[in-house]
Amino acid sequence: ANQIQRQIWTSENFQATMPKRRRNAHKGNHGRGLVIGGNPEMPGSIAMTANAALRTGAGLITVATANNVIPTVASHCQEATYLALGDTEGFLNGQTAIPFDQFDAVAIGMGIGRHEGAGKLIKEAVASQCSLIVDADGLYHLKRLLESLTERSGPVVLTPHPGEMAMLLDMSVPELLQSPFAYTKMFAKKYQVYVILKGMFTIITTPEGSQTVSTVGNQGLAKGGSGDVLSGITLAMIMQPQTISDALCNACFVHGKAAELLTEETHSVYDLMASDVIEGINGVYRTFL
Ligand code: APR
Ligand code: MG
Repeated sequence: ANQIQRQIWTSENFQATMPKRRRNAHKGNHGRGLVIGGNPEMPGSIAMTANAALRTGAGLITVATANNVIPTVASHCQEATYLALGDTEGFLNGQTAIPFDQFDAVAIGMGIGRHEGAGKLIKEAVASQCSLIVDADGLYHLKRLLESLTERSGPVVLTPHPGEMAMLLDMSVPELLQSPFAYTKMFAKKYQVYVILKGMFTIITTPEGSQTVSTVGNQGLAKGGSGDVLSGITLAMIMQPQTISDALCNACFVHGKAAELLTEETHSVYDLMASDVIEGINGVYRTFL
């Protein structure tokens, strides 16, 4: 009964599970994704998430953010479309109606902030049946909504770093890190969510409690923005025809391996920036597929 089901995700696993792309594919086959977040203090976060999703292979990406954030994001991301959430004040008040049904998956929370309006957006997203990824300050808002997660039909993926996971579990980071596998499994089963617990090693847990470890990546990723890039990669991956568990493992693989390849070839762990990791995604595809 106490059989431990833990696997380390390898390049062979990546190669074997990544869906091939059909010659007659169209953009609708590769997923319509929505990214919600960003605020005037953190406009770059959502731009990196959108670009990472597009580089990973999402068919269409829409960015939903405050009106005055859109020009900044658009200047870094030509391929996305935009959903204006109103002026900053409206956004702050959560005055918006987002057409969740039009999207295959939603990533919410990157750079969104802790204001009440952001909390209302997280609540709307949870009330939809969309496949959902919740990251960063989205997790802060989600804490009050955990009990409602088991009522959703669409899957929920949480992507906390240890500080965010400890906050969700009402414990300290050292306490969490004494038994990260056990605490995360308990949480994932209780709320029926997928959890990507990030760190030097990343633990991917399913709602059933199975756990996989991603050991790729390096200290070049220890920079603000790396997490935003992972959410974008994860958004693109869960829209492809593979199991969610495989999609999450493949997302962590692409993110970590991109950093490894970049620091072996053109960069170092000092100068690597999160936006470089987006440009490193192609190296992972070209090397391992
Ligand atoms: N080795 C391997 N991977 C690493 C390492 C390391 N030493 N350090 C970080 N990473 C990876 C993690 O596994 C994760 O995928 O980089 C990513 C970092 O994600 P986050 O911690 O979410 O970082 P990010 O959100 O980009 O920036 C920190 O989080 O707490 C908030 O407000 C805080 O703005 C800050 C933000
Ligand atoms: Mg983060």
